[in-house]
Amino acid sequence: MRVALGSDHGGFHLKAVIKEYLDRQGIANYDFGTYDAGAVDYPDFARKVAEAVASGEYDRGILCCGTGIGVCIAANKVPGIRAAHCHDTFSARASREHNDANILTMGERVVGPGLALEIVATWLEAGFSGGRHARRVAKISAIEASYSCRKE
Ligand code: RB5
Repeated sequence: MRVALGSDHGGFHLKAVIKEYLDRQGIANYDFGTYDAGAVDYPDFARKVAEAVASGEYDRGILCCGTGIGVCIAANKVPGIRAAHCHDTFSARASREHNDANILTMGERVVGPGLALEIVATWLEAGFSGGRHARRVAKISAIEASYSCRKE
């Protein structure tokens, strides 16, 4: 599995903790930035990670910002992305099993590093259940396909 990582300045420290964890676990990953605590705009990094996942270059993405909300909203604008904002392990598992989420988002100002790593571990390990959930996810894709998307 290859994981794409990204954050703005608000999620920079949490992203570093997650990267360290993935490295320790031997999980291949690439950090799309930001690379320091200077102020940046979260949509720029959400887009990089979302496009890397949507293209198939990376299997999953993890995005952090102050709340985890801005990167989630931005990532979900990229066709093919199902980003889930999770601050508990129950939601993290359900986002994989029910929604086939391909990006996890979290907020550094909301969740501590210990819980964040449990969420990451749960989310990476959980699989999509398929069945009735596949029908529902297909309906999400159909909504997306019904709108014309133009690449800038
Ligand atoms: C940056 O101050 C903050 O707005 C950002 O990290 C994020 O929380 C946005 O949703």
